[in-house]
Amino acid sequence: MRVVLGVSAGIAAYKACELLRLFTESGHEVRVVPTRDALRFVGEPTWAALSGHPVTTDVWDGVHEVPHVRLGQQADLVVVAPATADVLAKAAHGLAGDLLTNTLLTARCPVVFAPAMHTEMWEHPATRANVATLRERGSIVIDPAVGRLTGADTGPGRLPDPEEIFEICRRVVAGRPRDLAGRKVVISAGGTREALDPVRYLGNRSSGLQGYALARTAVARGAEVTLVAANVSLADPAGAKVVRVESAVELRDAVLSASADADVVVMAAAVADFRPAVRHDSKIKKTAGEPEPIELVKNPDILAELGERRRASGSAPARPAVIAGFAAETDDVLANGRAKLARKGCDLLVVNQVGAGLAFGTPDNAATILAADGSQVEVPRGPKEDLADAVWDQVAARLTHA
Ligand code: CTP
Repeated sequence: MRVVLGVSAGIAAYKACELLRLFTESGHEVRVVPTRDALRFVGEPTWAALSGHPVTTDVWDGVHEVPHVRLGQQADLVVVAPATADVLAKAAHGLAGDLLTNTLLTARCPVVFAPAMHTEMWEHPATRANVATLRERGSIVIDPAVGRLTGADTGPGRLPDPEEIFEICRRVVAGRPRDLAGRKVVISAGGTREALDPVRYLGNRSSGLQGYALARTAVARGAEVTLVAANVSLADPAGAKVVRVESAVELRDAVLSASADADVVVMAAAVADFRPAVRHDSKIKKTAGEPEPIELVKNPDILAELGERRRASGSAPARPAVIAGFAAETDDVLANGRAKLARKGCDLLVVNQVGAGLAFGTPDNAATILAADGSQVEVPRGPKEDLADAVWDQVAARLTHA
């Protein structure tokens, strides 16, 4: 694949070196097109050595090859990372003062922008309008990650991890349908922790890999994603809004508030069914006799509550239009799954077998997607991304009917 990597003048330009390596090491041909000022952050020799191609910023070098038209025309993908407010504005308005902006005007392939800037610039109405224009025209503009920015400030504006940008590009080029464009999707991921005291908790083995794969694939299919993450130590998926929680009660509050105007909710988190009745304020000390038993109380069943609320609201069309759950079973997988689907009142239930190294913390998964209309789809063992895409296929089919 022929990739044009546009680099504009942000401090995150150094992270684009890693993105470039990810492309070249997986066999892609990359031409780096920095803006003139981007070279103040990372110099031309670095880009030339890492890409194996000469690097120019303006349209006056090698004019006989007409690079200002050729690079864009021949590209299979253009990715701009980092994309500054300035380059987004130029792209939105069709300015073409240098090689990168010329390339953006001549490209007929997918174009991905990974913006990075200070929060104020990202949130400014001018930038919002430019991003909206670019998205309307079909470009993919990844929401920046939230975190530490240059200097002491934090907020939305960080360039997502290069691996995450690479993954989105890979999926965009693989021709994933954009059938979730304009849809609001809420995904829960990870496993809840129920505190016993300030240092101990009751938890579970969920890694969050499946929920994160769902988030990543939903972004690639065009959805606006809120990811409610319970105790997950994975890099934030590029383009998803991540809300961090710890306990089942916190997860419930975050999911319900994000679901108010959502089209789809997918509960991939492993939610503790019980929590300690008492959360001790100080550490429980070892005593001479037998330990005190731990009394447990029930946690809310969030998936069931989502279905119940939808039924009770009686609004037409029903919102969320699609509610999906996951069920990990050790025995009688399908029978237990069908019973659970009915009990929880959801539209889809993804059932998989767990135990003996299956599912938890592994990159692969196999499952059956059961639907309330009685249908079922087998998804063979494969990467969690493939199962995620199979779930979105089922969701998208139901959204078009909704
Ligand atoms: N779930 C939830 N709230 C809970 C427990 C589970 O929303 N308190 C959701 C999970 O996110 C998952 C689905 O319900 O999507 C199924 O979870 P599971 O633990 O298998 O369901 P349980 O009702 O706890 O069934 P079991 O009796 O097998 O424990």
